[in-house]
Amino acid sequence: MCGIVGYVGERRAAPVVLDGLRRLEYRGYDSAGVAVIAEGELRSVRRVGFVAALEAAVPANLPGHTGIGHTRWATHGGVTEANAHPHLDSTNRIAVCHNGIIENHSVLRARLEEEGVVFRSETDTEVLAHLISKFYTGDPEAAVRQTLGHLQGTWGIAVIFADHPGLIVAARNGSPLVVGKGEGETFIASDPHALAAYTRQVVYLEDRDIVTIRATGWTVSRLDGAGVSRGVELLGEEWTSEGRGDFSHHMLKEIHEQPESLARCLLGRVVPDEGGARLGGLDLSPRDIAAIRHVRVLGCGTSFHAGLVGAAAMEGLARIPATAEIASEFRYRNPVVAPDDIFFAISQSGETADTLGAVREVQIKGGSVLGVVNVVGSSIARSCGRGVYVHSGPEIAVASTKAFTSQVAAMLVASLSFARTRVLGPHEGKAFGEELLSVPSRVAEWIGSEAPGLMDAVELCTQGKFVFFLGRGVSHAVALEGALKLKEVAYIPCMAYPAAEMKHGPIALLDKRTPVVVVVPDDVMRDKILSSVQEVRARGARVIVVHTEGDEAAKRLADVSIAVPRSSTLISPLFTVLPLQLLAFRAGLALGRDIDRPRNLAKSVTVE
Ligand code: M6R
Repeated sequence: MCGIVGYVGERRAAPVVLDGLRRLEYRGYDSAGVAVIAEGELRSVRRVGFVAALEAAVPANLPGHTGIGHTRWATHGGVTEANAHPHLDSTNRIAVCHNGIIENHSVLRARLEEEGVVFRSETDTEVLAHLISKFYTGDPEAAVRQTLGHLQGTWGIAVIFADHPGLIVAARNGSPLVVGKGEGETFIASDPHALAAYTRQVVYLEDRDIVTIRATGWTVSRLDGAGVSRGVELLGEEWTSEGRGDFSHHMLKEIHEQPESLARCLLGRVVPDEGGARLGGLDLSPRDIAAIRHVRVLGCGTSFHAGLVGAAAMEGLARIPATAEIASEFRYRNPVVAPDDIFFAISQSGETADTLGAVREVQIKGGSVLGVVNVVGSSIARSCGRGVYVHSGPEIAVASTKAFTSQVAAMLVASLSFARTRVLGPHEGKAFGEELLSVPSRVAEWIGSEAPGLMDAVELCTQGKFVFFLGRGVSHAVALEGALKLKEVAYIPCMAYPAAEMKHGPIALLDKRTPVVVVVPDDVMRDKILSSVQEVRARGARVIVVHTEGDEAAKRLADVSIAVPRSSTLISPLFTVLPLQLLAFRAGLALGRDIDRPRNLAKSVTVE
């Protein structure tokens, strides 16, 4: 959703800020703006639409070495230039970019209007510009601090003052901000990805921090004025990779990156010699693991689907009762949290408001929650304090692909570790670990050989009325994920069902114009799913079967068949999801969709 970038240093600020905003485009936004301090004045440009439109409007060679910029995803007020950030105070000497929501903005606005302030936008953010101006008596940080004391809600803000070239004041509460340390230059951004081309040295701010940034360094203090020091951390090398390389789309690139992202996730964690796994970040002793009564997994969208596989593995492999739940539902149903439950919160971005809310609910109720997160230093990772980084590297396409497989892999590793402590002998553990370690190269092999059948499947799906996805057990989670991908990327209506549930109602929808994608790895449920395939065929529907290579019976039942490598059941989602990711990509392409930035969607959903 919204993004912030700020720069102070030797370079001209505008191109650096615009470049950072381009790197944040993947988050989803509808307007963008930039403000710089040039020749003692604030120069601000805003535009509705893409950063390219803003870039075209910013004068070439705009001077000024201090600047801030923003990409806005509308919440308060429509998508207009007037509502785009940065917002300026009435004197046009102070500019503010803001992520988050100021909950008491109407009260503050009414008070300011009574005092004669004329507002120029419908946003909650504009109150910040006017309040800072009201409290400003020459000390920028003091004015920001005093303003924040009047706010209820969440913020990540960056503020510049025309009177103070060479200085940015930023603050965080519920919306992430990271400082980037360069040589004689300093950056601020809502997402480290915006900075990765300039520096890998970053400082993650905590809620209620205020930071004053200069080219030569920064000082952090707390909202109450107390001083605090925050350490510099090094961004993982994978975060510096950028661009689409030789690929036409980020989504396709990320699908093809799965062998490496999976290898990074498994590296050093699976230990076949011990028949187990080591996940130091979980900070659980064998005694702690032995005492767990129930594993509960929380997440939204794709992360929830990975959670379903994770819960199945915890139960199937580690023999611990396990369930997965959509985080947005969990947080509001006053859930019972038992002291011997252990929670996993799965999130690619680590910023999903619903998942973060669920984490807080668990913590309020005294529960332990471990993060399974991609973005290092993100709010969920910090809130949980312990967990597993999945190390997918930056995922730019809105549709999540490589994060899903890494989340599944991380949950499989955690399940192996728990299983080894509780029920599994060294030989069984070793076999599972070795199979896991073989996945990246087998995925590479499969992806390298464009699946026969894929384009026929694309044709069926793009011509159908809507598409059904069926599977059982972990393959039901894969069916859900395949349907979500096709909805997001191709805008094709889809439904996913556990295969046996079809006959309890949805089968009424089937006719020859409803393609059905069936995920049927060769496992104990295979014969039962193939019976469901027969039922579907008997209603005239066309069937696309994703099956294990060499399964001739499954192939014979299919109108279109796509084979994936053989694996054990719990590992199968790492293979069966691949053709479904490609199906969505190719269908989106065939229908001319904006694949990397589907309509209405944002990459990280930081509002409820
Ligand atoms: O960043 P998160 O993993 O917490 O995001 C959760 C969902 O918003 C996300 O998976 C969404 O469903 C994706 N667009 C799916 O492709």
